[in-house]
Formats: sequence, C-alpha cells, structure tokens
Amino acid sequence: MNNSLSIYINELSDLVGDRELRFALQESVISEQNSLEKIENCFCLLPSWHWSSENLALFLNSWKATHLKMLAIYGLSCRLQRLAMNEANSTIREQFMLASAYNAETSYEDLGLDYGGETHARLYHDFAEQLLGDFPWSLEQYCLPEAREFRGWIYENMVVSDLAIGLLTNMFSEIYNHAEYNLALNAFSTFIDRHYTFSSDERETALKYIYAHVAEETEVDHFLVVVKALNAYCAATNTRIDYQQTRQLFQEYLHRIGQVMKSLTTAMEREKNAAQNSTLMGVR
Ligand SMILES: [Fe+2]
Ligand SMILES: [Fe+2]
Repeated sequence: MNNSLSIYINELSDLVGDRELRFALQESVISEQNSLEKIENCFCLLPSWHWSSENLALFLNSWKATHLKMLAIYGLSCRLQRLAMNEANSTIREQFMLASAYNAETSYEDLGLDYGGETHARLYHDFAEQLLGDFPWSLEQYCLPEAREFRGWIYENMVVSDLAIGLLTNMFSEIYNHAEYNLALNAFSTFIDRHYTFSSDERETALKYIYAHVAEETEVDHFLVVVKALNAYCAATNTRIDYQQTRQLFQEYLHRIGQVMKSLTTAMEREKNAAQNSTLMGVR
C-alpha cells in the first residue's frame, strides 16, 4: 500500500474525461503538496504511540468533523430538486433532477441503504467506542477549532453558496476521502495491532467505518457520480465549469485539511516528547 495521497488522487482524476477538470485537480495537488505532507505525516505518526484518551479523543472528534457530511449532501440535493420543481422547461427540469439524484447517490452508503440501515455515523461511533470505551470523545471540547471551521465551511459551501461551488465541494470531498481513507486504514490497522489486544471481532468493529469507504471503491464511485451531477447542472444552466474556481476551491480544501492534521500532529508530538523526556529523566 502506498502512503502518498497525491498518487491516489491522481489515479482517480485520470478517470475524468474532461481534460481541463482533470488538470485542475492534478495541478491543485501539486500546489498543495505541503498540505498533503502534513496529512501524511499525521497518519505516519499515529501508529507510533499508545495515545492518551484525551489525545485520541481530540483526533477522533476532529477527524469526524472533516467527514460525515450527509446533512450537507441532503441540503444540496434539495436545492437542486427545488430548481427542477420550479422549472417549466422539461429538458432543463430533467437535468436539474438528474443533478439532484446523482448528488444524493453519494449518501446511499452513509445512510446504510444496502446495509440494513446501519449508518456511517453508527459505524464511526463504534470505531471510537472500541478504541476509547466510555470516554466522552464526542464532547465538542475535543473538536479542534480548525476542524469545526472546516465543518462549517463545507456546510456553507454546499447548502448556502452558489450551487456550482456546492457540487465542486462535494466532488473534492469524495476524491480526497478516497485517498485519505486508504492511508487511514493502513495507519489505524497498524495502530490497533501495536497497541491493543482486540479479538478479531473487536478489531473488525474498530476498523469497519474506515474499511467501508475503501472496500468496493465506495469513494471512487461517489467521486464519479458527483462529476455526473456537475455535468447535469452545467447542462441545466447552460454554463461551463469554472476551472480557475475549481483550482482555488480544491486548494483551499486541501489547505484547510492540512491545517487540521498539522494541529493534531502537534498535539501528538507534544505528548510523545513529554513521555520520552520523563523516561529519560528517570534514567538519569
Ligand atoms: Fe461514509
Ligand atoms: Fe463518499
């Protein structure tokens, strides 16, 4: 398994037929290499230590805030559907309806539609509970301000801003998540194997949330279906994708995530360094 986010993002963007959109995605990755390294460093550090409950809660609460955007997906689909319902021209109405439906398709797994209604919010809860027991990780105090801001920015983009910005934001989150979950699965598997003595069932419960996004290329399909939603929206509005805006938004997305992961890295390094220093003092 590789540890490079840019390889996963570039491989997936290679499937995009629109050459300019593909370049916009790939150029954003090059210009935000510094942010990608911050994220990779964080996942690289994660398995190296058995973190305190406080630090693990900070990670799990803040990381959750950068995912689980089901409400925003729903809001964006409702906005597109509302345009369709108010449209007299049947061809345009159909394109808005398609944009809404394609966008909504990115939430099927989150809702557990084919998994007996087992939501991803439930899986995330199980993941955190398996690692932290009854420690109150979900309290807002464990959410970094940068992560909270990111969550608000995503919601604003998808539910309040221009619809093209909403669709682009959902698209970025799918392609980024595809890359990140692959790294996260590797990091958390190693972390659990090094620091916990789980039965195979407990290990499976802990990793199920991340695994669900990597198995069967879930996020790959989500990314491709949002590209379809964006194309249907452009057809309905007789507009073209603004590639400059695409670059700027994707760069901002990666920059913001990089800031969250950098802060998590700093908190983890502080704990690890303090513990190593106190061990050294004890030896002297
Ligand atoms: Fe999900
Ligand atoms: Fe997704």
